[in-house]
This record gives sequence, C-alpha cells and structure tokens, in this order.
Amino acid sequence: MKANVIEIRNLSYAYPDGTGALSEISLDVFEGETLAIIGPNGAGKSTLLLHLNGILKGGNIKVMGLDINDENIHKIRSQIGLVFQNPDDQLFMPTVFDDVSFGPLNMGLKKEEVITSVNKALEDVDMFSSLRRSSHHLSFGEKKRVSIATVLSMQPRILVLDEPSSNLDPKHRRDLIKLLKRLALTKIIATHDLGLVEEICSRTMLLDKGRIVASGNTIDILNNKPLLAMHNL
Ligand SMILES: Nc1ncnc2c1ncn2[C@@H]1O[C@H](COP(=O)(O)OP(=O)(O)O)[C@@H](O)[C@H]1O
Ligand SMILES: [Mg+2]
Repeated sequence: MKANVIEIRNLSYAYPDGTGALSEISLDVFEGETLAIIGPNGAGKSTLLLHLNGILKGGNIKVMGLDINDENIHKIRSQIGLVFQNPDDQLFMPTVFDDVSFGPLNMGLKKEEVITSVNKALEDVDMFSSLRRSSHHLSFGEKKRVSIATVLSMQPRILVLDEPSSNLDPKHRRDLIKLLKRLALTKIIATHDLGLVEEICSRTMLLDKGRIVASGNTIDILNNKPLLAMHNL
C-alpha cells in the first residue's frame, strides 16, 4: 500500500457563528492519487480544504507525517498548495511574475532558483508569455491558470483545488482538465463537475451536511445514480 500523505482523524468544525460545517471526518490521501471531494452546496468541501494548510484549525491532521501546528506550518504550506475557487483571492500582486514568485521568495529561495521555479510553473500552465502582464488584466481562465502557477512555483507535493472548473467556458474547462492530467503529483479536487471527476479522479469521496456519506472507486460512486440523486448531484 502506498504511503499516506494526508491523515485526517475525527475532524469536526463549526464556524464562529455556530454553523456546523464538518462532523467526524476521517480520511487518508495516498501518494500520487487524485481524489475527488464531491457534494452539494454547503456540504463542507471548502471548509475541509481550508483545514489542509491550517487556515482553519481542528481535528487531528497530519500532512507528510507532520502535525499541523505553529512549528510545522511553514514547511507544510510549502508542500501542499491550495488553489482557491476565486482567483482574485489568490492573485494580489501587480504582475503575474510577482504573484508566482511570492511563494518561493517567501520560502527564502535564491534569486536564480526563484526565477527557474517561476518559469517552470508558468510553462506548466501555458502562461509563460504573460509573465510581465498585470494579473488583473487577465481573463478568468488565465487567472485560474496563474493561480495554479502560484502554488506550483513552490514545488508542492500535494495540489489542492477548490472548484477548479467553475465559471470556465467549455474550451477553458477542457484545457484545465488536460493541464491537471499532465501534473503528476497528489491532487485533491473539490468539485461539482462530475465529468472532470470521471476523467481525472481515481477515488471519490461524497460529503453531505459535513459528513462523509460515501467513499470509493470513482466509477462505482458515479454509477450509483440513486446515491448521487439523494445528495443533489
Ligand atoms: N465563513 C463562514 N461563516 C459561517 N458559516 C460558513 C462560512 N463558510 C461556510 N459556512 C457554512 O459552512 C457549511 C459548509 O460550507 P462550505 O464548506 O463552503 O461548503 P461547500 O464548499 O461544500 O459548498 C455551510 O453550511 C456554509 O453555509
Ligand atoms: Mg465550496
């Protein structure tokens, strides 16, 4: 059996206003797999992802064998790249280069290493030619790609994406699926897009009302139409 790169035990979470969002989640993610997290709106998908790099805290979570705590958080954030649903939450610097170099600069890499890493990340997402452009002038699909590059430039072991295909037109959605197929690292994808799940995710976990209601082989879950219908998918 492959090593687990993420281990979650008994994670429950309520927001400060009292809204319960996650209830007793236990989950292992294995090296190299692509795991889908599906579920209707409000199921808790985004809340779960926000725990993986310590933006939200609770439960007992290990990433690459490290507990998420103040001592390890810097290291963990360099190994697990979280791509937010809205690229405007990810991009905040004047140029594409500035945004994509922000992570590696913060990690204390040397200038040469930063440049190599930024170039590679932008090439991976086919955005190298936009290096000097302003992130704010990009199309939504381009912003999405640059958002992915901002985490790839840190050379993470795990890529976490929240609704990566939402708001993309069919062509950009196809391009994104191709890109995700090409990236050979552990991936966790929260999405409503069952077509994307079928194409790139070997395993699927179904969340509803903060609980895991099913988990297994993607084909088995997607073929279980009554299960999907019961959870509004
Ligand atoms: N900042 C917040 N404050 C209070 N409740 C929230 C907040 N963000 C999300 N929630 C609630 O937490 C639950 C899970 O939401 P979320 O994780 O965003 O679900 P999903 O990503 O599956 O749509 C929902 O009931 C939602 O209304
Ligand atoms: Mg969400």
